[in-house]
Amino acid sequence: MRVTSARAVIAAGFGCLACALGLRAAPDDFVSFPLDYREWSHVKSALVGPQSPAFATEAGIHHIYANRPALAGYATGTFPDGSILVYDLLEIREEGGVTSEGAQRRVDVMVKDGRQYRDTGGWGFASFKGRDRTDGALAAGRKAACVDCHGKKKDRDYVFSEFRK
Ligand code: HEC
Repeated sequence: MRVTSARAVIAAGFGCLACALGLRAAPDDFVSFPLDYREWSHVKSALVGPQSPAFATEAGIHHIYANRPALAGYATGTFPDGSILVYDLLEIREEGGVTSEGAQRRVDVMVKDGRQYRDTGGWGFASFKGRDRTDGALAAGRKAACVDCHGKKKDRDYVFSEFRK
């Protein structure tokens, strides 16, 4: 009895180790939410208003963040594996002449891994709605839209934003 329960504990332990190592069954293009992105470098922000053709999907203020490996990419135009970029979109609130951040609308993520994501320019794409931190998986059509539009920036390794000079 004791042996069995010890085995069960060990098995459970291995189960978690497997998740930690990313060994559990997941789609090939799985991109997890980068929980610490607010500690990364802030690349830029922009406010998208009603005059923008992108207003329907991008209304609000967005901030772009880059992890440390991605900083080399901004410098050279080629992002190394391990680069992660975040597009953090928030609603805006107006009060007393002050415009500030409102609720989070969406968090879009790009992860560079030239081998794993070779069919999509070396980048994995994900989009997390609102405060969701677990399910960023994209249907094929939506992913193709990310790849097509970002593909216009092939000369900058699929990345639009730049640090101000
Ligand atoms: C119609 C074009 C278009 C589509 C579709 C699109 N993006 Fe973008 N994306 C942009 C532009 C333009 C920027 C830069 C915004 C800025 O500089 O403020 C951007 C920025 C980003 C960034 C920050 C890195 C960068 O390139 O500057 C990420 C991450 C991102 N998008 C993820 C996604 C994901 C994930 C999808 C699909 C769900 C997606 N995008 C779909 C145009 C697009």
